[in-house]
Amino acid sequence: MHSFFTVVYKLMHGLVKCLKLIGLSIMNLFYRFLFRKMEGEIESPHQLLGCQYISIGKHTKILENVILTAWDRYEDQHFSPSIVIGDNCNIGENSHITACNRIEIGNGVLTGRYVYISDNSHGNPANVDELDICPSKRPLYCKGPVVIGNNVWIGERVCIMSGVKIGDGAIIAANAVVTHDIPSGVLAGGVPAKVIKILKNE
Ligand SMILES: CC(C)(COP(=O)(O)OP(=O)(O)OC[C@H]1O[C@@H](n2cnc3c(N)ncnc32)[C@H](O)[C@@H]1OP(=O)(O)O)[C@@H](O)C(=O)NCCC(=O)NCCS
Repeated sequence: MHSFFTVVYKLMHGLVKCLKLIGLSIMNLFYRFLFRKMEGEIESPHQLLGCQYISIGKHTKILENVILTAWDRYEDQHFSPSIVIGDNCNIGENSHITACNRIEIGNGVLTGRYVYISDNSHGNPANVDELDICPSKRPLYCKGPVVIGNNVWIGERVCIMSGVKIGDGAIIAANAVVTHDIPSGVLAGGVPAKVIKILKNE
């Protein structure tokens, strides 16, 4: 009896996997019309917004449950957002990338799971008058675009904040919060992220 249910379970599992693959292929065909450029693959996103402002390069994989949001309007504010993800990147499950200005991710970038990359926040913390407004109603505040170079490795649960540039080949250690620029070829980590080791001199 037990082996019968094991066989049925395996068949069902295979069938569900096949249906999922077919569904993903159909959705990815559809994304080609929805995005500004879509040459990669997205697996079951959690949320997509402003796809017409988002480009995804060749052989790039956006894994499950990712949130990609490009805001052209928020309350009464208007923006011209852009999210560009290069070729051969892997964006880990449950990551969240959100722009009202510009986020550029180079080629060959690998991220762990639960990575957060944002060029904006709910209000400018320096503006104390905004503290009397509910955070979700505060105007989006952007310090500047986020630019991530080629072949950067971003560890699990890293947060990359507005106005930050990360140089080619940098490694950002798990759980880092990046609030300032990180040069090329270094290992950086911590909260806020600092250079821990120079891996390669320019
Ligand atoms: C950054 C990382 C690659 C460093 O690996 P490593 O070769 O073992 O590094 P080292 O042991 O030489 O560490 C160098 C220093 O950085 C520190 N360090 C390592 N990881 C750190 C982290 N996440 N945050 C803060 N400091 C860290 C070490 O304590 C060490 O400091 P010390 O010299 O004062 O002792 C690794 O710790 C890491 O964070 N990997 C990310 C893994 C991940 O998220 N994978 C997701 C799948 S893509």
